[in-house]
Amino acid sequence: SASSLVDQFGRHKHKLRISLTDRCNFRCNYCMPDQPDWLAKKDILSFEELLKFATVMVGMGIRHIRLTGGEPLMRQGVVHFIQSLSELKKIGLQRISMTTNAYYLKKYARALKQAGLDDLNISLDSVNASTFLKMTQRPLKPVLDGIQAAVDAGIPVKLNCVIVAGQNAHEIVELTQWAYQHNLPLRFIEYMPLDAPSNWQADKVITEDQIIGNLAPYFRIEKQQRLNDPATIYQLSPLFPHESATLKSPFELGIISTISKPFCQTCDRLRITATGELFTCLFANSGTAIRPLLQQANSALLQQVILQAVWHKKAGFIAQQQAPVRKISMHAMGG
Ligand code: GTP
Ligand code: 5AD
Ligand code: SF4
Repeated sequence: SASSLVDQFGRHKHKLRISLTDRCNFRCNYCMPDQPDWLAKKDILSFEELLKFATVMVGMGIRHIRLTGGEPLMRQGVVHFIQSLSELKKIGLQRISMTTNAYYLKKYARALKQAGLDDLNISLDSVNASTFLKMTQRPLKPVLDGIQAAVDAGIPVKLNCVIVAGQNAHEIVELTQWAYQHNLPLRFIEYMPLDAPSNWQADKVITEDQIIGNLAPYFRIEKQQRLNDPATIYQLSPLFPHESATLKSPFELGIISTISKPFCQTCDRLRITATGELFTCLFANSGTAIRPLLQQANSALLQQVILQAVWHKKAGFIAQQQAPVRKISMHAMGG
């Protein structure tokens, strides 16, 4: 229909990523600069503005909202915001998710569950404290405690792991075994450019095929149909079955291969930055400023601007040997 979120290539948008803040308490070297220059509070959308935006978007067909950052749990009032988002489930919203570094989950997991959060994606780049410290400049223990707290609170958890050559690439098998033993779905992510510190180089990317090559001696691996998901999904069973004695269900491994096999043809996402810019692609050079329109009582113009921006979404991103130059980085975009 004339009011649905569809682009010129026929891709319908069902998923909205909301970056609640550019702030983060971690310093992952594939994401965050050492000395970040945080946005001023006044430049960040209020929860009232965000709720208005989300309501309009759900009215236009968004079914799944994911809260990101920076670190979304650093935004004061996030639990209450999730509670208000939950009201949108009465008008068509199906799922509220969050991507987090898990540091604050010990404190917040139960409240998040009660507020209506449906699931969590948690970044875990290593299960070795020393590697973890090198990559994030933070200790591993609070993250493992946070993962446990989420599981205990009954929130479904998926693990995200960015593989970087020379940093954690030698731990692919160990990470997979750890996730397998904890019965937590794991997704490896190809290292993408747009990191704030500009550390990215093409030869630091470990591709999907290389990851599978690493795992092949240890697991029987069956590729699943790739649906509308950024990850290619594989079913894994260990070639040494004694390790799986306690396992309840088949283990799922995903690989998000933005670099070697981009999923642009089926991309169903939109993102809004903490300052209220609508981006139709993680790799877009610029966004559409939404904030001034959120302050108007009538949302007709807001809807029109959103529809226009979505319609003009580009075909996709083409991997290059050199990082693209862009002002907004991963941490301010929400990954
Ligand atoms: P699910 O709903 O569980 O599939 O979550 P997700 O994978 O969409 O979100 P998550 O925040 O866990 O992101 C995991 C990785 O996928 C991160 O590295 C993101 O940068 C990347 N990612 C998410 N959305 C997009 C996208 O639209 N394009 C590209 N290229 N990468 C994306
Ligand atoms: N390449 C790939 N993934 C990244 N993330 C952050 N920066 C990068 C990057 N340069 C991931 C985080 C988190 C998700 C939101 O994005 O690990 O899981
Ligand atoms: Fe923070 Fe996530 Fe970026 Fe790491 S990847 S610095 S946890 S926003």
